[in-house]
Amino acid sequence: MSSISVPPPKCLQKPLTVPYRHMFGPGPSNVPSRILKAGVNPVIGHMHPEIFEIMNDIKSGIQYMFQTQNKMTLAVSGTGHSAMECAIFNAVEPGDSVLVAVNGIWGERAAEMAERIGARVNTIVAPPGGCFTIEEMEKALSKHRPVLLFVAHGESSTGVLHPLDGIGQLCHKYNCLFLVDSVASIGGAPVYMDQQGALKNPARCFHGFCS
Ligand SMILES: Cc1ncc(COP(=O)(O)O)c(C=O)c1O
Repeated sequence: MSSISVPPPKCLQKPLTVPYRHMFGPGPSNVPSRILKAGVNPVIGHMHPEIFEIMNDIKSGIQYMFQTQNKMTLAVSGTGHSAMECAIFNAVEPGDSVLVAVNGIWGERAAEMAERIGARVNTIVAPPGGCFTIEEMEKALSKHRPVLLFVAHGESSTGVLHPLDGIGQLCHKYNCLFLVDSVASIGGAPVYMDQQGALKNPARCFHGFCS
């Protein structure tokens, strides 16, 4: 006859105590109390009408944050990596040409993801701490004719904030999706998605993923 030989752990029988710590890195970060308090709300089903209203409110907030009127604005309930994969895997087919601007680890990682699904990946590489001029971007776009260009807006491995102005317009010129990793920059540095060239042809524009 079997019986319980591992008793319930005493450490789990007392309330959890987590101290407040100031966190200034790209993540994890401090969470505003309004958001922490939201966590005590009851769980409801994903098909309850209230959840659609909440999701719509969240969508409005994201549209504000990214300064976009693009109706295809949504939050991926996952990590930044999952949103990177979601964006790349849904935009790229095996054999497609993909261009990745690499000036730190996030470009490298995006290139690996695109390679994993069999894309033909080309990179432009800047030394850590560097970024790319519009001329360099255009040269690479016209050479490789990618379906998607990846740029890390906030390259958290080096601390570089990559200028975005003008790149979206170039992507339109070369009929290419513009995928921006703003995980580490959104909320801290402005992103004007529509003004930065993503509105003219919204169906062909991705902009930003955010954990
Ligand atoms: C620029 C950038 N992209 C993507 C990620 C991945 O986000 P996550 O750790 O939530 O998967 C990070 C995380 O630090 C990041 O700084």
